[in-house]
Amino acid sequence: MKRVYLDNGATTMLDPKVIEAMLPYFTAKYGNASSTHAFGEEAKEALERSRSIIAKSIKAKPDEIIFTSGGTESNNFALKSIAFTNKEKGNHIIVSKTEHKCIMNACKWLEKHGFNITYLDIDKEGFVKPDDLKKAIIDKTILVSIIHGNNETGTINDLKKLGQVCKKHNVYFHTDACQSYTKTELNVKKQDIDLITLNAHKIHGPKGIGVLYIRKGVNIKSWQHGGDHEFGMRAGTENIHGAVGFAEAVKIAMDKKHIAYMAKLRDRLIKGVLEIPKVRLNGPTGNKRLCNNANFSFKAVEGEAIGGYLNNKGIASSTGSACSAKTLEPSYVLMALGLNPEQANSSLRLTLSRFTTQEEIDYTLKVLPEVVKSLRKISPFWKE
Ligand SMILES: Cc1ncc(COP(=O)(O)O)c(C=O)c1O
Repeated sequence: MKRVYLDNGATTMLDPKVIEAMLPYFTAKYGNASSTHAFGEEAKEALERSRSIIAKSIKAKPDEIIFTSGGTESNNFALKSIAFTNKEKGNHIIVSKTEHKCIMNACKWLEKHGFNITYLDIDKEGFVKPDDLKKAIIDKTILVSIIHGNNETGTINDLKKLGQVCKKHNVYFHTDACQSYTKTELNVKKQDIDLITLNAHKIHGPKGIGVLYIRKGVNIKSWQHGGDHEFGMRAGTENIHGAVGFAEAVKIAMDKKHIAYMAKLRDRLIKGVLEIPKVRLNGPTGNKRLCNNANFSFKAVEGEAIGGYLNNKGIASSTGSACSAKTLEPSYVLMALGLNPEQANSSLRLTLSRFTTQEEIDYTLKVLPEVVKSLRKISPFWKE
């Protein structure tokens, strides 16, 4: 059976060039970067080379990049470390209602430990309004964390405007850019960002590696104790093959031609799906939306059912973020956009990559209308 992978928001395939770059670090070059012999030096050199590549991609300095185990750890690191290091200044943190689960659950934990969290509303397309942020900041605010590209709706928040508000009010600004990295501009200088979460497995790199960018001068202490790795900020023997794979993935993904390619296929997909009756696109259009994301609600059918039928035809899709796909709760992100539970439960996310082909999109556009039609035939809620 034909297999079409349209769940690149959950994870992506490893680029063969990334595997090739990583292989020597599993075999001959297996040294520990802390060792002082030649094996160690080789590992250290690869680690620092990788760090520089990632730093350059966001216009940061290499010593502002801390390797972690991925997006979840970087987000926890940013929120919890900033909170506890700066608690003398205040105990108030602002996030949006559409953050990834790992930010939301870190916030719940912080609430139990004496911190107050404001969850900002978003508009109908999923954007945080800089004016709302301005109004929410109080004397005790120490940190604002706003997602860059949303994993469900593809909404790309305006970091520059949000960063300016934070800078003006002397509040740290963190962004979770796991979905947007290399798909739209990320520039720590232009966008006034203090901390950024990034990971490799959304951009054809390996799973289990990410970074936290920490601007020089930010008051933050480590929350993981052990050796003196990563400038004393994140203890643990470094994942050299992961770092090398991450950097190789970045080098390839930074070529802007990939953005244009994915956006063209995404728009072809959106146009085709919107020809099905009673379908709505969730999130914005054009370059305010991630180039690889499409999210729809189909009247009178469950997204789960559509996903199951598509799977039987070889097409991988998703009904929410991968981490919450196993719960039956309607997506809190779509609900925050103003969808009712029925609309949220009828949603389907299709996410592309630079490896997605036009033929795969056309196959999806052939199969999906048939699936929706047959499900509507048996739906008690469907009226022609
Ligand atoms: C926006 C966002 N943040 C964080 C994460 C978590 O990253 P990781 O899987 O590397 O822990 C993901 C991945 O699902 C994500 O989409």
